[in-house]
Amino acid sequence: MNKSHFLEKKSVDELQAEASTGETLDRALSAFDLISLGIGCIIGAGIFVLTGTAAAQYAGPAITISFIFAGITCAFAGLCYAEFASLLPVAGSAYTYAYATLGEIFAWIIGWDLLLEYALGAATVAVGWSGYAVSFLKDLGIVLPATLTAATGSQVMLADGSMTQAVFNLPAVGAIAVISLLLIIGVRESAKFNGIIVIVKLVVILAFLAFGVWHINSANWTPFIPANTGKFGEYGFSGILRGAGVIFFAYIGFDAVSTAAQEAKQPQRDMPIGIIGSLFISTLLYIAVALVLTGIVPYKSLNVADPIAVGVNVIGLKWLALAVKIGAILGLSSVMLVLTYGQTRILYSISHDGLLPPLFSKIHPRFRTPHLSTLMLSVFVSVLAGCVPISTLSELVSIGTLFAFIVVCAGVLYLRYTQPGLHRPFRCPLVPFVPLTGILVCLYLIVGLPRETWLRLFVWLVVGLVIYLIYGQSHSVLHRKRKAQHNSSS
Ligand code: ALA
Repeated sequence: MNKSHFLEKKSVDELQAEASTGETLDRALSAFDLISLGIGCIIGAGIFVLTGTAAAQYAGPAITISFIFAGITCAFAGLCYAEFASLLPVAGSAYTYAYATLGEIFAWIIGWDLLLEYALGAATVAVGWSGYAVSFLKDLGIVLPATLTAATGSQVMLADGSMTQAVFNLPAVGAIAVISLLLIIGVRESAKFNGIIVIVKLVVILAFLAFGVWHINSANWTPFIPANTGKFGEYGFSGILRGAGVIFFAYIGFDAVSTAAQEAKQPQRDMPIGIIGSLFISTLLYIAVALVLTGIVPYKSLNVADPIAVGVNVIGLKWLALAVKIGAILGLSSVMLVLTYGQTRILYSISHDGLLPPLFSKIHPRFRTPHLSTLMLSVFVSVLAGCVPISTLSELVSIGTLFAFIVVCAGVLYLRYTQPGLHRPFRCPLVPFVPLTGILVCLYLIVGLPRETWLRLFVWLVVGLVIYLIYGQSHSVLHRKRKAQHNSSS
C-alpha cells in the first residue's frame, strides 16, 4: 500500500455527482426550514443556562460583549461553512470538505472528531434538559428518585438530606430515546416538530425581552465591565474573553445546517441563507437577552441553573415564569433533535464512502431515513448522557467543534488557492482575512480549555486512527475507484 492512498482526495465534481445518485435522502427542506433547523440547534443550554453562570463568574454585564466576540468568531467560521455548503451540497459537512481538500485520512479524522460535537453535544444538552425537566416535574409535585437524575457515580442528595451516588440519569436517556424515534419516523415530521418548537422558543425569549425591558435598572449595569479581581478571567477584559470561551457553546449548531445539504430543495441558494440567517438571528437575540437579564438582576445573583427564570421572578409574572421553563424544556429538545439528526447524516456520508460499515448508510424503505444508524447512535448517546457529567461532556464538545471549524476555514483557503476557478454559488468575503482570523480565534479558544480536554481529544483521535487503519482504509470506496482507474489507464 502506498502512502498517497491515505491522502487521496475526492474532486469537487465527484462530490457533486454523488449527491444526486444512488439511494438518496428526501429533498424536503426549504430555506425557512433550514433557518429554523439552525435556530433549533443554536438556541439552547447556552442561553438558558450558561449566560447566567458566565455573567456571575467571569464578565458581569459585559457578558454582552462576550456574546458579541463569540458571535463574530462564529461568523468567520459560518461564512466559510456557507461557501463550502453551497459548493458541496452533500450531507457530510466538515468531513466531506476535508475529503475534497486534505485527503481521506484527514477526512476520517474530522468525521471522527465531529462525533464529539454532535453526539456528545446531544448528550450534553440531554443532561441540561434533564435538569430543567426534573425541576419542572417537581413544580407539579412529581419527585423522581435523586439516584436516577444524575451521572453515574456523582453525588446526589436524598430526601432525608444524606448524600449518595447516582446510578444514572434516567430523564436524559429517555429524552434521547424519544428524539431518536422521531428522527427515524421521518425528516418531514422532524422538521415540522422542530419548526413548532422554534416558534415556542422564540416567543418565550421575545416575551422575556418585551416584559423585561421595562424593569431594567441602570444601576445593575454600573460598572458595565466590573474591575478585574487580579486573577485572569475574573472580570475586566480577561473576564470578557473567558466568558466568550464559555458561551461559545451557545453558538454551536449553525454548522449543523450544512449537514442537511442533501435534503435541501435548493441547497446552493438556501444553504448560505440557513447558516448565516440562523447565526444572525441567534446573535441578535443573545445580545438582547444578555443586556436585559443583566439590567434587571444584579449579575452576582445569576450563578444558578435557571438564570432566565431568576430574571422573570423580578418581572413578577407567574405565567411567564412557567412559560420560560416550558420554553427551555422544548428548546433543549430541538437542540438534541438537530444534533442527533446532523450526526446521523455525517455517519451516512462516511459509510457511503466505505470508511464505516454499510449499516450506517442503510435507508429505511418507507421512512427514507437512516434508521439503523439513528438507533445505534441513540444507544451511544444515551450511555454518555446517562453516565458522564455535563462539564466533561461540554468541554469535549467545545474542543471538537473548534477543531472542525479550523479545518473548514483552512479548507476554504486551500481551495481558493488550488482551484480558484470553481463556481462558488456563495463566496466567503474578504479571503484570506476571514478564514485566517477564524483559525486564529478558534486556536485561541482551544488554548483556553483545560489540559485534560486536550488529552481526551488526543486519545479520541488516536482511537479513530486505529479504527481507520483496521477498517476504513481497506474498505475505502475511493481507493477502489482510483485503483480501477489506474488499472484501466495502464
Ligand atoms: N448551542 C446549543 C446550546 O446552547 C448547543 O444548547
